[in-house]
Amino acid sequence: MVKAIEWKYDRVLMLDQSRLPLDVRFIECTDYQMVAEGIKKLWIRGAPAIGIAAAMGIALGSQDIKAESFDDFMERLDPIMQAMLSTRPTAVNIKWAVERIKKLLLANREEPVGRLKQLLIEEANRILQEDIEVNKAIGRWGAEFVKDGDTILTHCNAGSLATGGYGTATAPMLIAKGQGKRIQVIADETRPVLQGARLTAWELMQSDIPVTLITDNTAGALMKKGMIDLVIVGTDRTTRNGDVANKIGTYTVALLCKEHNIPFYVAAPLSSIDFHMDSGDLIPIESRSSDEVTTILGHRIAPEGVNVINLAFDVTPARYITAFFTEKGVFMPKDIKKLCRDKVDLEAIRIKP
Ligand code: MRU
Repeated sequence: MVKAIEWKYDRVLMLDQSRLPLDVRFIECTDYQMVAEGIKKLWIRGAPAIGIAAAMGIALGSQDIKAESFDDFMERLDPIMQAMLSTRPTAVNIKWAVERIKKLLLANREEPVGRLKQLLIEEANRILQEDIEVNKAIGRWGAEFVKDGDTILTHCNAGSLATGGYGTATAPMLIAKGQGKRIQVIADETRPVLQGARLTAWELMQSDIPVTLITDNTAGALMKKGMIDLVIVGTDRTTRNGDVANKIGTYTVALLCKEHNIPFYVAAPLSSIDFHMDSGDLIPIESRSSDEVTTILGHRIAPEGVNVINLAFDVTPARYITAFFTEKGVFMPKDIKKLCRDKVDLEAIRIKP
């Protein structure tokens, strides 16, 4: 399994995804500013992975804090948390990680500052380990919806590289393969940053899952020919009503699925569900540099000075989503909001293939 990030000898080690697959290089982040830079520059990307990176960045930054009291410590930790929160706005996982860390610290406010720093390292590693287990559970539930012989289309990269390990959208593929089902995957190249071509294709080939790469605008033609059985994508933020923000182009794939009567599934760990946000219309959508569109691997492909719109994500309305694969089971979009309740009867709302 490819490891996107780990805590090693009081450093944060990241696989530089902006260079993959041509160059497999790790970057050692020695301070929290470097971790924040890595998130912004896509050395690490994918919603769960940037949540983990933020937690590790906060743990790393906290080690240099000199504080006598809990309040003093929190005051000095705040700019570090803000630095993480200001990196990328769409995925909810950074906010989720920050809130989890604040809760942990408040529960331990009587502990000495040295112990708080240690707790932050432990928590960041726990978030990573839990993410792997969550993804395996998503995979077990999701694999029930994958049949022997299926061809699955995916968009962007919601694999090991985008998570602590195993991936969200890729987990059902890995489990289905382990169950002996003969599956194959069609990967959208995913312009402009090419996460599908550079990352998903690379990852799936390493896992011995047959994968075919297509340009984004080929998906419709393949669906029309009956060559796609189902679609599985990840999510950066899912709102209470079941709307999903994911990589730009996901909405188009969902519309194509509707036209061709193909199930469109979203693999969504609970950490990427924003239970405080009512609808996808409220999700902040990241706009990125025009260079990502006007150049490919450093080579200019568009005229100098052309206007560019480069939205990193779009929102797919809940009505186009067949179901969500989560670690608690598979659910209809209308039931997503119920998952935040402590006393929900999961068996009553789970759906079966
Ligand atoms: O811009 P990226 O590469 O961070 O976008 C990633 C995606 O859109 C993924 O599909 C999403 O984060 C889910 S990853 C499990």
